[in-house]
Amino acid sequence: MTGSTAATSIGIHDLAITTTHYAVELEDLANAYGIEPAKFRFGLGQDQFSFPAPDEDIVTMAAAAAKQIIERNGVTGLRTIMLATESGVDQSKAAAVPVQSLLGLPSEIRVVEMKQACYAGTAALQAALGIVARNPNERVLVIASDVARYQLDSPGEPTQGAGAVAMLVSADPALLAIEPAAGVFTADIDDFWRPNDSTTAVVDGHLSMSAYLDAMTGAWNDLQAQGGPAIEDVDRILYHQPFTKMAKKAQAHLAKVTNSALDLALPGEEKTENARDTGLANGTLYNRRLGNSYTASLFAGLAALLHHDSELAGKRVALLSYGSGSVSEALTGIVQPGYFDAEASARFSAVLDARETITIEAYRALHATERSSATDYETERVTNAPFRFAGVTGQARQYEAN
Ligand code: COA
Repeated sequence: MTGSTAATSIGIHDLAITTTHYAVELEDLANAYGIEPAKFRFGLGQDQFSFPAPDEDIVTMAAAAAKQIIERNGVTGLRTIMLATESGVDQSKAAAVPVQSLLGLPSEIRVVEMKQACYAGTAALQAALGIVARNPNERVLVIASDVARYQLDSPGEPTQGAGAVAMLVSADPALLAIEPAAGVFTADIDDFWRPNDSTTAVVDGHLSMSAYLDAMTGAWNDLQAQGGPAIEDVDRILYHQPFTKMAKKAQAHLAKVTNSALDLALPGEEKTENARDTGLANGTLYNRRLGNSYTASLFAGLAALLHHDSELAGKRVALLSYGSGSVSEALTGIVQPGYFDAEASARFSAVLDARETITIEAYRALHATERSSATDYETERVTNAPFRFAGVTGQARQYEAN
């Protein structure tokens, strides 16, 4: 870390990703519902989605991801945790508070929860950059953690999912130095929201897709107006991925807006002729198995890219964030030398493989279970993650180490 004057570079120093105990195979879902499996595999670009056990939620996933960061980096300079989520478990108390407690982090720390649909992880990252710019000796833990839930038998159901990404933001980062220019765009649209009295999102799926593309265009144009890099100077591009086919649609849209030839192939598809490979396929490798992880999805894309491409040192990556409602932001960063961890992809693939495949019948029963906080209850012991949600006592959620 540098001294107390302005840092030379600030960005993502470390990143960790985690998910749930269960996975639903989309082929099983398609067969059970009498839908052509190709619709999910190719039409949405999804193979599976993660689904939480009764003793898992956004707090347990967030703490499990953050634990890896703390084990590798310690707590020196750590004075802030920002947890972004759109599937919060309390209307008042920040989910980052039980995370601080589960990890045994010092009391001299500020914690907060941030919300704006799938965009909030990017807002947390921006706020963290500001804190470190003010004092480069501080480090900030940014966590994006979400469970994407739509109603059973709704079009959104195959685009559910869950996951958490924790990032340590610091001066002189080891992974990605974020550049100063950012493009932003906001438009008040009812494409997706979750009323206070609903455990599932309300969504106009097709409107959300066009709202996403419009907002992304606005953020990209603003990035240009702010002096950000032109498309030719960007080597890799990552998108918010509610389902991976959406990243392909976004890439096709950006290619049109910028009048450039960008490869549109998802994994297994033929490369687009005479088009530049900007890492679209690599960036989707985890999301097609996690499903939508809302705030975490863009950063799961970053993890997949950094884990699967060993030639990125010095290269510029654009991160295009979108959250329904709607807010979009375009950021860029430079990948740092020594970023590549040759074992990281095998490690996280093993985590994905280790999930227990749940039958559609069992998944539907779990999905339909809604427990009220009015009565105390204990959850059954299922997850083997480091932390579990133990139940509710006196209307308060209880967490414990596993
Ligand atoms: N083989 C291959 N592809 C198939 C197919 C088959 N048998 N059947 C359908 N498809 C394709 C469709 O052509 C379509 O592809 P396209 O968009 O490239 O044209 C895709 O599968 C989806 O089909 P569609 O009929 O549009 O699906 P849907 O109306 O059931 O719902 C969503 C799709 C995304 C709108 C829905 O899952 C949803 O609401 N999701 C939640 C909201 C969301 O994620 N929004 C994104 C922006 S944040």
